[in-house]
Amino acid sequence: MSRAETGAVLWFTGLSGAGKSTLAEAVAPRLRGEGKKVESLDGDVVRTHLSRGLGYSREDREINVARIAFVAHLLQRNGVFVLVSAISPYRSMREGARALIAPHFVEIHVAPPLEECIRRDVKGLYRRALAGEIREFTGISDPYEAPESPELTLDTSAITVDDGVTRILARLRELGHLESSVVSRQSSVETETE
Ligand code: ADX
Repeated sequence: MSRAETGAVLWFTGLSGAGKSTLAEAVAPRLRGEGKKVESLDGDVVRTHLSRGLGYSREDREINVARIAFVAHLLQRNGVFVLVSAISPYRSMREGARALIAPHFVEIHVAPPLEECIRRDVKGLYRRALAGEIREFTGISDPYEAPESPELTLDTSAITVDDGVTRILARLRELGHLESSVVSRQSSVETETE
């Protein structure tokens, strides 16, 4: 079975407010348009169900990310494209997920500058973190270890959501997770029936 016939896990990592969920939401219909089954595992949503009650200590984040990786793997091996959006701030936890899911693991570092996330402050959390009202806030009072060799890095302060989606799809094709193009699929069908 080629990689294009199995699922894949698109693992969006980056600071709060970086644009992980926005990119995942935008890429989902495009993958469905290619006939793929798609599911999302979004940190904010997971924390209201699967990881309810967990906090933001290193240990709790590790448990949260390990659960997400476990479920993502179950789905992926059943042919689903799984869109994970979780800060997943520690390199070791992402490497754990990669080890479980490889070669179907695609790490996408969503990487606008911290200043841009603070400027956006969609949920008002940076203001509170900077005022000292939230402890262990990633990027302010807690670490974020950037990936060393992600499959893709997207600076969402410099590109549009559409550009991001285009780059994600191109990278998935390059890595063999998606058929290279409708045209080439068509021509291979023609070759088979000749
Ligand atoms: S992770 O570190 O365990 O991967 P996850 O992505 O699930 O984090 O959740 C991050 C979201 O929780 C943020 O987008 C933000 O809305 C919220 N949040 C609340 N407190 C914190 C905190 N101390 N650090 C980071 N995010 C926090």
